[in-house]
Amino acid sequence: MEKKRILSGMRPTGRLHLGNLHGALANWVDIQNTNTYDCFYFVADWHALTSDYKDTDLIKAYSLDMVVDWLSVGLDPARSTLFVQSEVPEHAELFLILSMITPLSWLERNPTYKEMQEELSNKDIGTFGFLGYPVLQAADIIMYKAYGVPVGVDQLPHVELTREIARRFNFLYKEIFPIPEPLLAQVPKLLGLDGRKMSKSYENTIYLRDRGDELRQKIASMFTDPQRMKRKNPGRPDVCNAFPFHTIYSPSSEVDEIADACRTAGIGCVECKKRLAQRIVEGMAPIHERQDHYLNHLGDVKEIMADGVRRASKIARLTMEQVREAVKI
Ligand code: TRP
Ligand code: SF4
Repeated sequence: MEKKRILSGMRPTGRLHLGNLHGALANWVDIQNTNTYDCFYFVADWHALTSDYKDTDLIKAYSLDMVVDWLSVGLDPARSTLFVQSEVPEHAELFLILSMITPLSWLERNPTYKEMQEELSNKDIGTFGFLGYPVLQAADIIMYKAYGVPVGVDQLPHVELTREIARRFNFLYKEIFPIPEPLLAQVPKLLGLDGRKMSKSYENTIYLRDRGDELRQKIASMFTDPQRMKRKNPGRPDVCNAFPFHTIYSPSSEVDEIADACRTAGIGCVECKKRLAQRIVEGMAPIHERQDHYLNHLGDVKEIMADGVRRASKIARLTMEQVREAVKI
């Protein structure tokens, strides 16, 4: 029996950080490792253009970097198809057709649209492409007749819109598309070094490429419990920024011990973050080893991507044949 298909994508607008790893990538890897699904993960480079169309110099480099990091955290090309969106131009054709049947009002009321416009107020994103972003995303998803779409909560409105667009296509032309489900993972709440959302624009990130002293320094600079001004003040792990990282990187017996020691002022923040840094350095070591390997074998990475494009294109071509027939174009 054919496995159900899973699809997700990421925009290559910068290097990957721990927020990306624990918020999304780890979930992708877990889903792959169940061996229950046929996974498609792609670099959404056309989507990167929606916010970065004025500055496209780095998109290609980020795309390759992204795939290197995907492989380093455990995505396995034998089980997951990894490809770049713009290498499968069928996405653009399906986007065009879907744009014909998507009411403007669905796009205008999209909450992510309004939020992003506020968040990216430094960029000029009053464009047609930016408004149509979810239509392109819908094309990405239904092209592969995906059963499930692993995403974060921020992407739920987009998946909901995808479902509506797929239903509308099925209703207007022909029942071609299954209605995809969003797959939300339980994600640990990791914030940036300064307690805001981890984001490259805030310069508060720990990148998957950070190592050694740079990595340790960043961890030493993490904000902790703001009420813990002095070493003798008891601390509150539940409001401390560093503590959630312990829950991921330190063994659970130590996590409890640290929480207790924090609450009783038995450990200071400097010491606590030193221990954390050591755990993170150790935890990242296998990822960094694989990164080195792939960075020394970029030809292999490009071959993996080319193979992904071949696998994705095969399905995309079949879907588009059905679409053209259904639309009678
Ligand atoms: N919009 C997603 C994000 O910003 C990226 C994306 C593009 C995507 N196409 C997709 C995610 C299809 C899931 C499925 O993170
Ligand atoms: Fe956070 Fe550790 Fe300081 Fe407690 S001791 S506030 S957990 S850094």
